[in-house]
Amino acid sequence: MTIKKPKDWPNVSYKTWRYEKQTKMKHQVLDNYFPQWLQILNKYNKKLNYIDGFGGLGAYHTKNDIENNAYNSKSFGSPILAIKTINRLISENKVTKVNVLIIDKDKNNIANIQKILFEENISPLNYVNFINGDFDVKINEFLDKLDNIAPTFFLIDPFGYSQIKISTIKRIMELEKSEIFLNFMYNAIQRWIKKPALEARFNELFGCEDWKQYADEPTKAKEEKLVALFKKECETFAEYVTPFRLRNPKSDRPYYYLFHLCNDDTGCVKMRASFARFNKGFTDYCGSDQQMCLFDKNSTKKQVCVEKIIKYFSGQNISYKEFRKQMLKLSDYHTERDIIRTLQHLEKRKSITIAPSDGRKRKTGILKTDIIKIPHLS
Ligand SMILES: C[S@@+](CC[C@H](N)C(=O)[O-])C[C@H]1O[C@@H](n2cnc3c(N)ncnc32)[C@H](O)[C@@H]1O
Repeated sequence: MTIKKPKDWPNVSYKTWRYEKQTKMKHQVLDNYFPQWLQILNKYNKKLNYIDGFGGLGAYHTKNDIENNAYNSKSFGSPILAIKTINRLISENKVTKVNVLIIDKDKNNIANIQKILFEENISPLNYVNFINGDFDVKINEFLDKLDNIAPTFFLIDPFGYSQIKISTIKRIMELEKSEIFLNFMYNAIQRWIKKPALEARFNELFGCEDWKQYADEPTKAKEEKLVALFKKECETFAEYVTPFRLRNPKSDRPYYYLFHLCNDDTGCVKMRASFARFNKGFTDYCGSDQQMCLFDKNSTKKQVCVEKIIKYFSGQNISYKEFRKQMLKLSDYHTERDIIRTLQHLEKRKSITIAPSDGRKRKTGILKTDIIKIPHLS
């Protein structure tokens, strides 16, 4: 578990944590996806919520800040990024009302976030509530009091593995139109998984005892099986579950996985696109060092997509809408762009046909209603 030391500055009254590349990436993805979520949901829901279950310190410093002995980078953490996004979209009349709840177990972190808001003149335009306490306890108390809740985006971003229970994640996903972006701290999980005293914690994290059979597997197999198990358990209550691997370039091991849970295929498509946007088109983070060259990675991706089409769709006539839904579930690491490119490649080779459902002439691009005719391929 990383212990982050808060740093003081001569030019601001609040403290910051060191900004790591993978944290920056997480923020870029969140900052790209969250405004899209707000605007899409706002079309039919004039009240929305953002819940940040592990608020953090609120700001991060860079090497330059250290060299200059002044905090200038203003690289903010998830609660500040979310409030700034909400303020911007409200001022532009793009969203109506978004309430924010920020939870953190450390009262100093809550105070630091409040200092940032004050000192940086970020006045939340909607209601912001801070709760100092344990996420699991507080969120369950909060949900106990509510009969129904507006569509809510949850960020669940702990330092370790022991602060989340799958029963709570399930409870959240049972709320109508809720969505979760969750940090599955694989590095900490694999480090502690064989400690007998922590057995109950791991049972709560996975919601079953199956993890025990993987604890002694070789490194790579253990990772694949534990991640697949957590995904499978999440799929019992969430329609679309996508894990994004964030790899430590020095060791080829993951720092952690970010899991996105939603019940709507548009959310899944947009989150994968947001992740790929900052990762050279891929849904895994490799740091600056790409082990496999991009050409190889791209052709493997296309090949895997073709293989899935042959295996699961041979002999079918299927609308693109339905095809996309199924492909998103069959493959974690294909974005919609990958899926479309593969279909266009197969169409060009005359392996499949794509035609508008109403018999009109096909235009460029693929519409949700278009029918894909896939002969028996091998
Ligand atoms: C990784 S940091 C969050 C970073 C933040 N989401 C961001 O992007 O800037 C994790 C935070 O969780 C808090 N924390 C640890 N255990 C907790 C618990 N059981 N409930 C709520 N917060 C907790 C820590 O104090 C820390 O501030």
